[in-house]
Amino acid sequence: MTAPRYTDLVVSLPATVPFVGPEALTRERGRPFRARLGANESGFGPAPSAIAAMQDAAGDAWMYGDSECFELRRALAAHHGVAAENILVGEGIDGLLGNLVRVMVAPGDAVVTSDGAYPTFNYHVAGFGGVLHKVPYRDDHEDPSALLTRAEDLSAKLLYFCNPDNPMGSWHSARIVQRMIDAVPDGTLMVLDEAYADAAPDGTAPPIDPGDTRVIRMRTFSKLYGLAGLRVGYAIGAAPLIAMFDRVRNHFGVGRLVQTGALAALRDQAWLRHVQAEVAAARDGLREIAAGHGLHALPSATNFVTIDCGRDGDFARELVAALRERDVFVRMPGVAPMDRCIRVSTGPQEELDIFDDALGACLRALG
Ligand SMILES: Cc1ncc(COP(=O)(O)O)c(C=O)c1O
Repeated sequence: MTAPRYTDLVVSLPATVPFVGPEALTRERGRPFRARLGANESGFGPAPSAIAAMQDAAGDAWMYGDSECFELRRALAAHHGVAAENILVGEGIDGLLGNLVRVMVAPGDAVVTSDGAYPTFNYHVAGFGGVLHKVPYRDDHEDPSALLTRAEDLSAKLLYFCNPDNPMGSWHSARIVQRMIDAVPDGTLMVLDEAYADAAPDGTAPPIDPGDTRVIRMRTFSKLYGLAGLRVGYAIGAAPLIAMFDRVRNHFGVGRLVQTGALAALRDQAWLRHVQAEVAAARDGLREIAAGHGLHALPSATNFVTIDCGRDGDFARELVAALRERDVFVRMPGVAPMDRCIRVSTGPQEELDIFDDALGACLRALG
């Protein structure tokens, strides 16, 4: 009997997952969390109309979903003022990023991102043998000009840029992002991850130009639409680029109930506005909680607040662990100097109250 003949690339990769999820942590800990504020989900929930639509459609689950996501793509196209050919629906931004890297990156190709930016992108790049080059943040923001320079120097295939940013919650104006798109070097594709665009102030996302071959934009139903558990997001890009994904994507990967739920959620913009108001209020609440404990919350254009603990990464890691001991799930940036912070998702007031109490107790215990 011989062992399976893995690829050299896969054998060379570390055994890792980008994030350990709260369910896995719950199993490890042997008890549930009281406040689930670590994964930037929406504790405000999905639109009741989306829940009802999925309940109505549940009996149809014996059928595969539409492999072309026709209705959802058409609705998204109308929503953004583009053609359906400019829209690709996939298994969340995470799934789309994986397929994007598969389409674009061969072993050895250079890819540029920020040091400490969204790790799932890096995971896909490593998985396809790309070589990641990381540019430091500047003042807790991704650094557009340094990213562009590095992409140009390396003739990078992809340049990842997240606006607003995770994990810092910081953002650049649409004007700066557009200038960045305009300056993308020839031969580089900019990946504009706009997972948090629905939480950002007007003037954060530049207008969408569906003919622009320099950029692909990523959006999701996981955040303010409150559908993280469905796994559905979409990319917006030039039609020939979008068409390339048909060569590699899992054509039946977006299930029937998922498409139904996302379509109903998109149609319920009143619920989105309601959640936007809840998120804005909870951001203020988290800022006050931080200040009440002598900590400083960074400005946020997302559905989470990054709180500067004023000490080093070891202290913030201890604080995250101590909060978990008190059944509060939060996360933190992975790289210095941003790892002086913890990152807390917005959520219902009861959970913010639990966080508030636990934070006070943990800070007292850690001294
Ligand atoms: C920057 C960023 N991109 C993508 C995602 C994942 O999006 P999705 O749930 O659509 O895969 C997240 C989730 O936290 C994120 O923070």
